Amino acid sequence: MDGARFESLHVGLIGEVETALRALTPPADARPARLHAAMRHSLEAGGKRLRPVIALAAARAFDPAADARAAAVALECIHTYSLIHDDLPCMDDADLRRGRPSCHKAFDEATALLAGDALIPLAFELLARGYGDRPTLLRDLTLELAVTAGPSLLVGGQTEDMGGLAAGADPDRLEFILRGKTAAMLSASFAMGALVGAASTAEVEAFRRAGRSAGIAFQLVDDLLDLTSDSVQMGKPVGADAQNNKLTYAGLFGVPAAQARVAALTNEAIALLQGTRGDTAFL
Ligand code: IPE
Ligand code: IPE
Ligand code: MG
Ligand code: MG
Ligand code: MG
Repeated sequence: MDGARFESLHVGLIGEVETALRALTPPADARPARLHAAMRHSLEAGGKRLRPVIALAAARAFDPAADARAAAVALECIHTYSLIHDDLPCMDDADLRRGRPSCHKAFDEATALLAGDALIPLAFELLARGYGDRPTLLRDLTLELAVTAGPSLLVGGQTEDMGGLAAGADPDRLEFILRGKTAAMLSASFAMGALVGAASTAEVEAFRRAGRSAGIAFQLVDDLLDLTSDSVQMGKPVGADAQNNKLTYAGLFGVPAAQARVAALTNEAIALLQGTRGDTAFL
């Protein structure tokens, strides 16, 4: 797929995500207004929408008419909650997110905590409303997202990430962190999209694995950008990993090794996608 074609599809998908997000999440003035305003502050602000875009594109790879909007928004709700909590003073203590003050800076810590909390059940409400007429699909999507967001993956990865270098420069722990805190949500985005597109069990698994590889690569790049980019470009603080004494791949094995692994993981993800019958050129 050439760059112009990719760009036009990407812009279209982001537009669909933004429209669905506004339609499926409560307005900022719903009661209690402070809570809803905090949720929208974080939901609306300049995210790349990577996970929901992947979910829409993964569904269409198998069924061009598939409607993955509810799954896409559910993924963005969980992701956004994880960012709100990740930025709290008790975690990464970051004042900037998506180019604006992070939720606890724009509001206060209790409101940010609660705004994050509220986004978690909202995600599952969206799945139930969106796919309740297809019970098997609803069960599979619920299980995928619940396991992904739960104690063994997203929350587990965040937990071990908090230990930082003080907990030891252990490659096994680093893999657990990468897979849990980041790759799991990318993996679920591919898998949930494939599920909505009625892909076979083997195809869903290939997408899940592709997302895992792409997701680890994504976090390695996020960590590299934390070393080399600037906060205007990133919309969040840089140099934060060193300041917080985080265990990272580049820190443990060096920048060239991290870059080489990103390339290898990306190729792995592409090969997995291409091994399915889906139209995966955009992905
Ligand atoms: C940030 O994710 C958290 C990481 C996993 C590195 P994104 O880089 O996708 O953040 P947004 O959604 O674009 O703000
Ligand atoms: C992202 O890790 C993990 C989650 C938010 C779940 P980081 O802590 O590196 O993410 P950024 O850099 O703050 O976006
Ligand atoms: Mg973090
Ligand atoms: Mg962080
Ligand atoms: Mg980071």
